[in-house]
Amino acid sequence: MQRKQDQILRTKFAERLCHWMIVLCFFLAATSGISWFFPTFSWMSGLLGSPQMARILHPFLGIAVFVGLCFMFVRFVRYNLPEKTDVIWLRNIKGVVLKDHTQPLRIGKYNAGQKVLFWLIMASIVVLLISGLIMWRAYFSEYFPISVIRLAILAHSIAGIGLILLILGHIYLAIWVRGAVSGMVTGYVSKTWARQHHDRWADELEVKKAEAGKGRS
Ligand code: HEM
Repeated sequence: MQRKQDQILRTKFAERLCHWMIVLCFFLAATSGISWFFPTFSWMSGLLGSPQMARILHPFLGIAVFVGLCFMFVRFVRYNLPEKTDVIWLRNIKGVVLKDHTQPLRIGKYNAGQKVLFWLIMASIVVLLISGLIMWRAYFSEYFPISVIRLAILAHSIAGIGLILLILGHIYLAIWVRGAVSGMVTGYVSKTWARQHHDRWADELEVKKAEAGKGRS
C-alpha cells in the first residue's frame, strides 16, 4: 500500500490521542480562565455550561492538561534535549522562514524552535499546577496565608497568559509547516516532508531500517 512505501510513522497513536485530548482540555481551561481575566470575554465561561460550572471544572481540566503533558514529556523529552547541531538551525533561521530547504540543517526529530517551545510549555504547566493548587478554594487555599495566595494568583495569571500565547504560536507554526498537522492527525508524514524539515531524523530512520534489513537477511 502507498502508506507503507512513501510514508513514515512520526507520532504513535497513544501520543496523538494524548495530544488531542490535551488540546480539548486546554481549550476549555484556557477559555474559562480568559473569561475571568478579561470581562469582554466573560461569555466564554458559558462554553462549560454556566459560569458556576466553569469555576468547578476549570481546575480539573487544568489537571488533565498537566497529566497529559506528563505523558508527552516522558515520550518526547529525549528528542527535545539540546544538541550541538541545534545551532545550525538557529543560524539559518532566515532560510527556515523563507522555506529554503537546500541547506542540510542536521535537524533531528524536532528543531531548535520546537525544543524551546517544548520546555516553555512544560515550565508553564508546572507553574500553573503549583499556583493553581495553592489558590484552589474548594480544597487547598485555606492552608496558605493570604500573601502566598496573592503571589499564586499573580504567577497563575502570568503563566496562563504566557502559555496561551505560546500555544497560539505553536498552532500558527503547525499550520505554517504544511503536512505537520496531518502528521499529528494520521501519525504519518511523507519521506519528502521528513527530509525537508527533519533531515537528520530521516537519515537516522534510514540507517535503522537498513540495520533491521541486515538483521533479517
Ligand atoms: C489546535 C491546536 C494545536 C495544533 C493544531 C497542534 C499541532 C501540533 C503538531 C502538528 C505537532 C507535531 C509537530 C511535528 O510533528 O513536528 C504538535 C506537537 C506538540 N504539541 Fe501541539 N498542537 C495544538 C495544541 C497543543 C496544545 C494545547 C499543547 C499543550 C498545552 C500542545 C503541545 C504539543 C507538544 C508538547 C508537542 C510535541 C512537540 C515536541 O516534542 O517538541 N499542542 N502539535
